[in-house]
Amino acid sequence: MNDPQSLGDTSPEEFRRQLHELADWIADFRQHIGSLRVAPNDKPGAIVAALPAEPPEEGEPFEKILRDVDRVIVPGMVHWSHPMFLGYFGWTTTAPAILGEMITAPLNVNAMTWRTCPAATELETLVVDWIRQWMDLPPEFGGVVYDTASVGVMHALAVAREEAAPSVRKHGLVGAGAPVFRIYASEQAHSSAEKAAIALGLGEENVRRVPTDGEFRMDASALREMMVSDVRDNFKPLAVIATVGTTSTASVDPVPEIAKICRANKMWLHIDGAYGAGFAILPENKSLTVGWSEADSIVVNPHKSLFVPLDFSVLYVRDLERLRRVFTLVPEYLRGDVVEAQKNYMDYGIQLGRRFRALKAWVIFRSFGREGMAARLREHIRLANLFANWIKDDARFELAAPVSLGVVCFRFVGRDGLPSGPSDAALTDRPNESKIDQLNSEIVEKINTSGRAYLTQTKLRGRTVMRIGLGNVLTTEDHLREAWEMIRETAGAL
Ligand SMILES: Cc1ncc(COP(=O)(O)O)c(C=O)c1O
Repeated sequence: MNDPQSLGDTSPEEFRRQLHELADWIADFRQHIGSLRVAPNDKPGAIVAALPAEPPEEGEPFEKILRDVDRVIVPGMVHWSHPMFLGYFGWTTTAPAILGEMITAPLNVNAMTWRTCPAATELETLVVDWIRQWMDLPPEFGGVVYDTASVGVMHALAVAREEAAPSVRKHGLVGAGAPVFRIYASEQAHSSAEKAAIALGLGEENVRRVPTDGEFRMDASALREMMVSDVRDNFKPLAVIATVGTTSTASVDPVPEIAKICRANKMWLHIDGAYGAGFAILPENKSLTVGWSEADSIVVNPHKSLFVPLDFSVLYVRDLERLRRVFTLVPEYLRGDVVEAQKNYMDYGIQLGRRFRALKAWVIFRSFGREGMAARLREHIRLANLFANWIKDDARFELAAPVSLGVVCFRFVGRDGLPSGPSDAALTDRPNESKIDQLNSEIVEKINTSGRAYLTQTKLRGRTVMRIGLGNVLTTEDHLREAWEMIRETAGAL
């Protein structure tokens, strides 16, 4: 039986001592992260095998738990914050971000309504508006913070669905006699489009993939033709998802042209700027934002490009009240919590309990300022272009897509350079293409299992290509050069 004296929390003195120990642990981890393996090389199941299978009967000292973090957890991780991590969008964490997370932990509020935490609610409104200003979105756009862009697009399409078939919220699709809706996204768009269609009962197959041009951007005339043919076949075009920064190549769809098609056909325009929209904080990138004011919704993931650690995604809707109308539902037990004159964020999505995500973003944005973030993004763009120049200078490699933002897609094409064939035949049917696919996969696999660097692969026009994303504040030109040398050496040894 526990002594009642020992119930409750850790004593204040002990807690203070543990916090100091943890502060040193975090500072050491950050300082020496570059000396760790980027990724483990263990077989699946190794982590579980290294830890006791039975739950603890008695409490254990924090020191012992931290030792297991060092022994099992840290070596069992892919270190996304490692300077040689070049996978996905290369996103990162930063010191201010860690401080922001640390402040959030003891506050432990639930930002479901204004009354349950006025500060969390009002700071969310403030931070979301800062990002809106940075992205030059007109003031009629209001935003809400979700965990991810996948959740954002689902909510956006729920509003589109309700506006196109007004009583679906109440009666469901069949009860409301809704038509079969169609959603359009480019063949390069993220699979969250289909996930949203699954969740909303719209049907995965009703997301139509529109072909792209030579630079992997949505072909607007193909979009128009698909819609016309769908209407002829009794489908109802509902929404277009235009992507600003696609997952594989960071290509940017022609938003102004797509917006025109949406307006002419009364379709919802959602912009998936999960990765790319954050780059609009750079004055030299303002052209990215052309047409955004025509959108109905736009999602941006500051956890991809604005230095906020996972998770933090913002969905903006032109007139946020449209979103509230679809999701507000106040049960009796929460009625006392609702202050009508204030934002109650539970009204803007399916989530009730909500973390205080705005705090970490506020700490980071204040610590770096727009200028500091812009300078870092600019450096990532510079590094991406530098890497592309190295590729151009080595005949054994080719660029597989135009460099966009911080992303470079490239391909090893053989030890002797390009096999003979028409010069514009990149990614098409040259001899030995499947052999080359395999070699590109092998290079990525070998580098990742070496633990010295980490990159990803993707398929473009059916061909396997290597891909790096620059987004880590710790990655310097020297790191990138080291990674390039590794890629060259690995390719040369195949
Ligand atoms: C363009 C794009 N949209 C959406 C997503 C989904 O993002 P999330 O993980 O926040 O749901 C991704 C993820 O990489 C993406 O690249």
